[in-house]
Amino acid sequence: MNQTLPVYIEISQNAEESIASFLASKKYSSVFVLLDENTKTHCYPLVKKSLKEAICIEIKSGEQYKNLDTCQFIWSKLTRHTTDRKALLINLGGGVIGDMGGFCAATYKRGIDFINIPTTLLSQVDASIGGKLGIDFQGLKNHIGLFQLPNKVIIDSRFLHTLPHKQLLSGFAEMLKHGLIADGTHFKDLINLRIDVQSITPHLLTSIQLKNRIVLSDPTESNNRKLLNWGHTLGHAIETFCLTNNTPILHGEAVAAGIIMESYLSEKILGLSHQECRQIEEAIDSFYQRVSLPKGHLNKIAEYVLQDKKNEGNSTQAVLLQSIGKAQHSIPLTMQQVKEAILYYIK
Ligand code: GLY
Repeated sequence: MNQTLPVYIEISQNAEESIASFLASKKYSSVFVLLDENTKTHCYPLVKKSLKEAICIEIKSGEQYKNLDTCQFIWSKLTRHTTDRKALLINLGGGVIGDMGGFCAATYKRGIDFINIPTTLLSQVDASIGGKLGIDFQGLKNHIGLFQLPNKVIIDSRFLHTLPHKQLLSGFAEMLKHGLIADGTHFKDLINLRIDVQSITPHLLTSIQLKNRIVLSDPTESNNRKLLNWGHTLGHAIETFCLTNNTPILHGEAVAAGIIMESYLSEKILGLSHQECRQIEEAIDSFYQRVSLPKGHLNKIAEYVLQDKKNEGNSTQAVLLQSIGKAQHSIPLTMQQVKEAILYYIK
């Protein structure tokens, strides 16, 4: 099964054994585990036998801690233990831990090895694959960072049992995205699933393979990797709006909303068939509640779209679908089209 993935990604039935065999194949001077209060309680017990010598670095959970202060805390811990360049950092957690832990490892003394043990669905199928590392800065998401692949990613679906249903749904949006942009069969397989770990687990491999294929074709996102931003141009704007409006929503919930809006634009601009557009909308509506967006804030939401860091110059660039499984990137959008899509979603 794992043969179809690059060697650094392992889908494991037992993360504890996978860590033990990884460590046995290397000679690290010291091993650190980055975790938060949730992964310490719910996930660390599943792997701790293989980490008897490891030193834990505990940070607080949440996107608000994905910042330079927390990095300083992590670098200080590494420094206090006189960590050398032969050390290993194991990131045990979701996207925040993986992105920030990877960033700290890649920059500490110009780089030590790190591995990711993603514990959320979102990080298992998306964030931990492809080497995007970084932190938020001055309110801007992932504003400081770099591309660097981890030395290993160990994906064990048993961690997903520790997640609330909402978190599963959030990661599931990224799986739907992979199907929509690259493999219509994957999308059709997913839309008939129940959202539970048992039903989703057999589909992890395909989703990860799809993401990995795109990343390999363009590791630093100058071309094809932009396709992975499907649903995110408007989705990010919704996420930011909800956050600043004190009604935060999960990333995948915002992406699901973005998928409906960008499907509407795909039909208008790129000729996605009406039937497929409806099929996508019905699928999303069957899993996700509509995000409540007051019409009076239309201009504000549209402005957030303009601020997307993926834009070039003053023009908003989106990914749109030609058909389910086939996407195109760098399609310019006018403000009028963006507002129409938001209104279509609000109805
Ligand atoms: N999450 C999008 C990417 O890795 O490019």
